[in-house]
Parts: sequence; structure tokens; C-alpha cells
Amino acid sequence: MIKFQGNHILSVSQFDRESIAKILDVAAQMMPYASRQKRCHVLDGAILNNLFFEPSTRTRVSFGCAFNLLGGFVRETVGEENSSLSKGESLYDTAQVISGYSDIIAMRHPQMHSVAKFAEGSTVPVINGGDGANEHPTQALLDLFTIRSEMSRFEKGIDNLDVVLMGDLKHGRTVHSLSKLLSLYNNVKVTMVAPDALQMPDNVISTLENAGHKVVLTDKIAGNLACDVIYQTRIQQERFASKEEANLYRGHFSLNKQVYEQYCKDHTVIMHPLPRDSRPEANELDVDLNDLDNLAIFRQAQNGVLVRMALFALALGVEDKLTDYEKPITWATNK
Ligand code: CP
Repeated sequence: MIKFQGNHILSVSQFDRESIAKILDVAAQMMPYASRQKRCHVLDGAILNNLFFEPSTRTRVSFGCAFNLLGGFVRETVGEENSSLSKGESLYDTAQVISGYSDIIAMRHPQMHSVAKFAEGSTVPVINGGDGANEHPTQALLDLFTIRSEMSRFEKGIDNLDVVLMGDLKHGRTVHSLSKLLSLYNNVKVTMVAPDALQMPDNVISTLENAGHKVVLTDKIAGNLACDVIYQTRIQQERFASKEEANLYRGHFSLNKQVYEQYCKDHTVIMHPLPRDSRPEANELDVDLNDLDNLAIFRQAQNGVLVRMALFALALGVEDKLTDYEKPITWATNK
């Protein structure tokens, strides 16, 4: 198992199965705090600096809520234009300064490998919240948590999973990280549904194939969705040269109730890292699926809080002290 305390979390390549099991188990222990049955103040006085140099809703807010739920304080910088990076300051200098103000840092940045570069200058643990089209390790961990939890309803696990990854697999960092994590499990079949120009990078495909898994590449939905989990993704317009180029691929892999009923199994669970592009020309995951029990997208987003709480607890070495720092909830809550 890897050493978590004091270390950065930059890539899923850091993890083995034992380390992932530890993260998911600590995440499950966070349930009473995230669902407001109890409070936990084990990180009372600690400071998270949340640096988001690229747009985000879920990752940024759930990192902040996760830290608050463990009793810590959160400081945020949103947008490069609001930081001295826009005056030419280097990632290294920024890291030296911000880590002096913090106990831990979460960061998103549009350039690949930028978070690792930043971490070289940091004196405290740095967690990668997404670095360009490269990786999104915390999303992949919450995706695995979700797969484990959703599949348990059907007495299935991550081993022997039959999963479809669909959409913009070239630029989608979440599917890169998730595929690498899935490669650590046994007998996984991954069907990659994407236009040729947006297929999964070769290095991700070989990671799965070299681990002995079956990989199917296709540009067709018909006949390819009878699986355990469909993981739909958005056309990542921000990674294309122009909106017009991104438009060429929008709307080709829309998933709606009719497609689901025609091609999926009764137990097929739908996941999506979100945001989903609900504009009519894209409509990649139709709102007519919203009442489907197997639509897991919002449960998946909620699981992000649990997994990020677990990563903070492990990186700051408090995962065994949670119950010593519990308090009752004093307000009325609908959780
Ligand atoms: N899944 C995800 O990364 O969402 P945000 O871009 O809203 O953080």
C-alpha cells in the first residue's frame, strides 16, 4: 500500500488495489458526517487552499465542502486572472508561497502535468483536481466508489465488469484516469464508443490490454450498450481549436430513454462525470432519463464529497481519529 500521509495525489498511476480499497473504505466511513448524522472536527484549524484555474462546479465545491465537513477552513482562488500567475509568476513560486499558508492544496489547471509541476514547489500535499486533458484522479476514485456501490445492488463488483465509455474519449481526462484504475482489477471488458478522431489515447488502451482486459473500439451505439455500466462523457469543447470543430461531434452519441430501452440491459447503470451538455444540439444524456433508478449521475456527484474527505484524512494522517472528534448535529437537516 502507498504511503498517503504527507504525499501528493497527482495521478492514478500512484495507486495499487490495496491503496484504492483503503481510500474507498475510509470514504464509506465518512457517510455519517456527509449525511449530517454527526459532525467531525478532526481537521479543526487546518487550512485547505483550493486553487481552480479552470472552470469547475463539482470538484471545487466538493473539495471545499469535504474539508469543511472535517472541521477545516477553506480559502479559494478561482480563475488565473485573479492570481499573480497572470502577472507572469511561475507555478513553482506560487506553490512556495501558497503552501506556506496552507496544510494542503487542491488544484485544477488547464495545462497537462501543470499540477505535478506546481507540486514540485509545494511544501504541503497537493491533490490534482484535473490537469488539462491529462488526468482527474479524484474523479476516477469517486467513479470507482460509485461503480462498487451501484453494482452491489446487483451482487456484482468491479472485477468482471462490462463497461462502456462513450463520447469524447480523447480529451476526457476522467475516462483516462478511470481506465487506468480499472486496469488494476480482474477480467474487465471496456467498450469505447467514440468517433475515430475522439477515440481513447493509445497509451490508455495499452494499459488495459497489457493487463489482460478486453478492449473493443467502435463508433456505433447499436449493439454495443448491453453492459453493466455506461459512462457517458461530454464533448470537451474547451480542448478543441474552435467551437465549430467541437460542433462536428456534438449529438452523435446522445443517450435517451428510447436508446436505453432498445440497447441496454435491465441493470445497466448510467454514469457521467458531469457537467452534462443539455443544449439541444448536444443533449448527450437526455432529461427523459432523470426518473430512471439506474441513472447514477447525481449519486456519483455526491460520492465526490466522501472520497475527497477520505483523501484529506489520509493525506493529513487523521483517518484513524475520526470517531474521537465527533459532535452532535445541532440544526434541523433534510439530509
Ligand atoms: N466532474 C467534474 O470535474 O465536474 P466539474 O468540472 O464541475 O468540477
